Amino acid sequence: MSKRKVVLIPGDGIGPNISIAVKKIVTASGAEIDWIERKAGLSALEEGLDVLPDSTIEAIKEHKVALKGPCTTPIGEGFTSVNVQLRKTLDLYAAVRPIRNLSGVKTLYSGVDLVIIRENTEGLYSGVENTVTPGVVMSMKVATEKACYRIAKKAFEYARKRGRKKVTVFHKANIMKLTDGLFIRKSKELSEQYSDIEYEEVIIDAGCMKLVQDPTQFDILLLENLYGDLLSDLCAGLVGGLGVVPGSNIGDREAVFEAVHGSAPDIAGKNIANPLALLMSCVMMLNYLADNEGRDDFRHCADKIKEAYNKALEDGATTRDLGGKLGTQEFAQAIMERM
Ligand code: NAI
Repeated sequence: MSKRKVVLIPGDGIGPNISIAVKKIVTASGAEIDWIERKAGLSALEEGLDVLPDSTIEAIKEHKVALKGPCTTPIGEGFTSVNVQLRKTLDLYAAVRPIRNLSGVKTLYSGVDLVIIRENTEGLYSGVENTVTPGVVMSMKVATEKACYRIAKKAFEYARKRGRKKVTVFHKANIMKLTDGLFIRKSKELSEQYSDIEYEEVIIDAGCMKLVQDPTQFDILLLENLYGDLLSDLCAGLVGGLGVVPGSNIGDREAVFEAVHGSAPDIAGKNIANPLALLMSCVMMLNYLADNEGRDDFRHCADKIKEAYNKALEDGATTRDLGGKLGTQEFAQAIMERM
């Protein structure tokens, strides 16, 4: 099989270190990937480029698929978040984040198997903020029929394709009657076309309590942008933390795969970050290429990587966040030895 060009954005903070680990593991799996490296975030600014350079966007448009490390957006310097900008520019409207217990990672819960489907392009992340009058500022929550419809459709289609049983919308339509009201209305309308999938609406505050009482009662969580952001980290905490939750941002043309976590400045440069979430995102990417481009060789490599990291975790060969002692690159080595 020929080499598939894939854009790699190493990112900032722990990003470059975990990207190196992931690249080594992917090479060891035999996956025929040719990485096209591009910058975004602080590392782009430091090179005199824009925070999200055109060359990065153009490369993703050309190659359709990217693996992205976490990016730091300087706060309070007039920059729009790199991540928000990237998702909006490419219209990557659906964040898909599987959250599952891993064998070998002990947590308070067992049997957790959730998928967060988050609307990625609007809500309070639309970036419409104004100073109304000195001392009074405003941030606008935007919801459109188009975006509410297509994200709900994504959730039900995903459920059907993966044999999932239930879609639960977390919302606050009792307070935000128009915006969250539109979100649940579109979800409910669509649910009528998917009678094989149970549909449920839960007010988000009570939903958070239910999640920490018994996360196994949920299957797919469908959320608008801000709620999806918050719940992703909450749910990561159910299965071992941010080091073990992968994700993807999917549009109709391009897809960008990235971990849920950020650039973790508190542990950057110490070779202690867990590369697993980025590696799992890369496994999702290989399976996406297998599904969409018939690359069965990538599915084989994805299975190989998955089996190897599961074995490493079962053997207790892990990074500090999971109670182990290994550094980032040593953990990568432990995975490669088990391949
Ligand atoms: P964070 O996710 O970077 O860190 C939260 C906590 O989790 C920290 O204690 C960190 O050490 C730990 N952590 C995160 N990833 C880890 C890993 N792989 N292994 C071990 N421990 C890990 O969130 P925070 O601190 O809120 O944000 C830091 C920066 O990252 C900010 O500039 C933020 O804007 C950016 N960010 C970028 C994202 C992206 O590029 N997709 C997503 C979230 C935040």
